Amino acid sequence: MMIQPDWVQEAWDQTKAKVKRISRRIGDGFPHASVNGEYQLEQPSWWTAGFWPGILWLVYRDTKDNDLKEAAESCERQLDALLTDSEMVDHDIGFMWTLTSGARYKLLGSEDSKKRALLAANLLAARFNIQGNYIRAWNGEHMAGWAIIDCLMNLPLLYWASSVTGDPRYKHIAVKHADTVLQQFYRPDGSVAHIIVFDPETGEKLEVKGGQGYSPESAWSRGTAWAIYGMSLSYHYTGNQHYLDAAKRTAHFFLANLPEDQVPTWDFRTPQGKSSVRDSSAGACAACGLLLLADQVDGLEAEMYLKSGEKILHSLYMNYGAWDSEAEEGLILHGTSHFPEQKNVDVPLIYGDYYFVEGISILKGVKERFW
Ligand code: GLY
Repeated sequence: MMIQPDWVQEAWDQTKAKVKRISRRIGDGFPHASVNGEYQLEQPSWWTAGFWPGILWLVYRDTKDNDLKEAAESCERQLDALLTDSEMVDHDIGFMWTLTSGARYKLLGSEDSKKRALLAANLLAARFNIQGNYIRAWNGEHMAGWAIIDCLMNLPLLYWASSVTGDPRYKHIAVKHADTVLQQFYRPDGSVAHIIVFDPETGEKLEVKGGQGYSPESAWSRGTAWAIYGMSLSYHYTGNQHYLDAAKRTAHFFLANLPEDQVPTWDFRTPQGKSSVRDSSAGACAACGLLLLADQVDGLEAEMYLKSGEKILHSLYMNYGAWDSEAEEGLILHGTSHFPEQKNVDVPLIYGDYYFVEGISILKGVKERFW
């Protein structure tokens, strides 16, 4: 049984109070990065649209605060127009509907949310390239062959769709994509590439791209976190040992490369002195993956993953949390969205906040995840 460390209740209380406070301004908006203390709001089509409603549901699950529920439901409804416009969405359909319709269906059993999430799963499944066995990441003619590591976190929507419909085709697509990630993105040391370009006609692997990492050979820390959590989720849904082994391998690579305060730099493999800029969002996401791994193994191994996840979340709470400042809407400071393009570097990010809140709720003893 998980024993709750003393600081966890305090962190959860701070989280609930802050989410309630910032919800008064953000309401049913779609925050992404906090600049000068205020979350910038995006269009519902931006890939991060699920994270704020996801936070609202995580807090609502505990508090039953109706204002938070209504804001989350309004966010979900605003995504509806995208379900009939496949040019407006990309593979991040998974992130977007898992944390809106998927979460509402899991919490409230709402049939309208189930229908929306299934429509979203159909859109995601339609992005599968049968020649290359990958889910296409982005739109635009020149990107028909691009697949990215982040997509592992979109697969739970497909696994879920198979489980509620009884139709295994969604799961088959998820498994084919996850197998391609093992074969093409994984390196022997457990680190992963960000972008792989395939020939969309033949499925042949053409190129590795650095993407949001420093270079094609480097180790972008958020991509590493997507792989830890994504592979452990694929193991959760399939029981395929290869996915568990891969999640562990990446977890060990991640943990071995953490600085003393347990929060990763934006890329683990940059030339000496190039950058020590952190990405707290990678730490928060990896921590959630480590907590899932802890449930998937036994004994000392489970304890090691649990303690590792706890240590990251504790450091985020103590050293990166913006709890005292009324002038900052972000929960967790020092996230990095896109270092190579210098976009939203060293700022709070809504997905960092989301995974922090999810991680604390798990340490509080909640077992059910929205993924
Ligand atoms: N999925 C995009 C990112 O991690 O920034």
